[in-house]
Amino acid sequence: MKPIQVGLLGIGTVGSGTFNVLQRNQEEIKRRAGRGIEVTMVAARNLERARSIVGDGVQVVVDARAVIANPEIDIVVELIGGYGIAKELVLEAIAAGKHVVTANKALLAVHGTEIFAAAQTKGVMVAFEAAVAGGIPIIKALREGLTANSIQWIAGIINGTTNFILSEMRDKGLDFATVLQEAQRLGYAEADPTFDIEGVDAAHKVTLMSAIAFGMPVQFDRAHVEGITKLAAQDIKYAEQLGYRIKLLGITRRAKDGIELRVHPSLVPAKRLLANVEGAMNAVVVHGDAVGTTLYYGKGAGSEPTASSVIADLVDITRLHSADAAHRVPYLAFHPNAMSDLVV
Ligand code: HSE
Repeated sequence: MKPIQVGLLGIGTVGSGTFNVLQRNQEEIKRRAGRGIEVTMVAARNLERARSIVGDGVQVVVDARAVIANPEIDIVVELIGGYGIAKELVLEAIAAGKHVVTANKALLAVHGTEIFAAAQTKGVMVAFEAAVAGGIPIIKALREGLTANSIQWIAGIINGTTNFILSEMRDKGLDFATVLQEAQRLGYAEADPTFDIEGVDAAHKVTLMSAIAFGMPVQFDRAHVEGITKLAAQDIKYAEQLGYRIKLLGITRRAKDGIELRVHPSLVPAKRLLANVEGAMNAVVVHGDAVGTTLYYGKGAGSEPTASSVIADLVDITRLHSADAAHRVPYLAFHPNAMSDLVV
């Protein structure tokens, strides 16, 4: 069978990782997917840089819409980020009958309800394993591994930048501003770190996990969001003396009268596994009624860890692509009364 054809929108850190891992592991991936997966077209601002990554065998264009318009492309991978042009392109790709893979948590947390509804209408899939906790397959754990469970709660360290900052503040007794500068210098924090340090990035991610775990529409705007900017070195020291570590947790929980959705600095007993997740690592704890408590740990960012999740979605879609569209299970199915279910 002809390989499934993939178009990448953007070939930065994650895009180049995706291309390289697909090349390196192509035989194993083909065996698992039941069919080859090939990147045949790439949209990039810098053509020369893009060509240096993908070589001559791949068509490289500036116009992302040319990828969407190409009838040979089966799956569009959106790696542009943000809410603006990325939203337009994702909706256009869906309208053109393409499956979409994206790492864009901000886009899905804010506009996911519209995007998933459009995908369902068209009978295509929008998959987003890479959007939450980078290389940790937490979306697949929630959708597949834990599918028998009534999920009770999820608590996670899902922002590596803030976990790095909190770890450094504790280890070195430094204040927030000094460690943030160090994190920027080392490339852990972006030049504009607002979404990370204000808890917004973690809130995007926990909103997506909540939607999957509880069948809720994505409701980022109703999440309680508090970052780490007000924490002082002394807060961390006092917490330590009392036997706790301060971690920025994303939490979603089934409560008596609805679902909680929140991000804030939390006191975690020092003996708990989550308290010992250091540096830029991520970890997510999920409690299901049947399975009990489960823990997922790994790299929440980076080229190949994130590519690992992008490719997992490509393999999933490749397996399901030949299924009759009318019988395809929607990637994200909402609970009909869930809008009124959220408490914060
Ligand atoms: N800025 C994010 C983090 C990158 O620090 O975890 C991955 O989403």
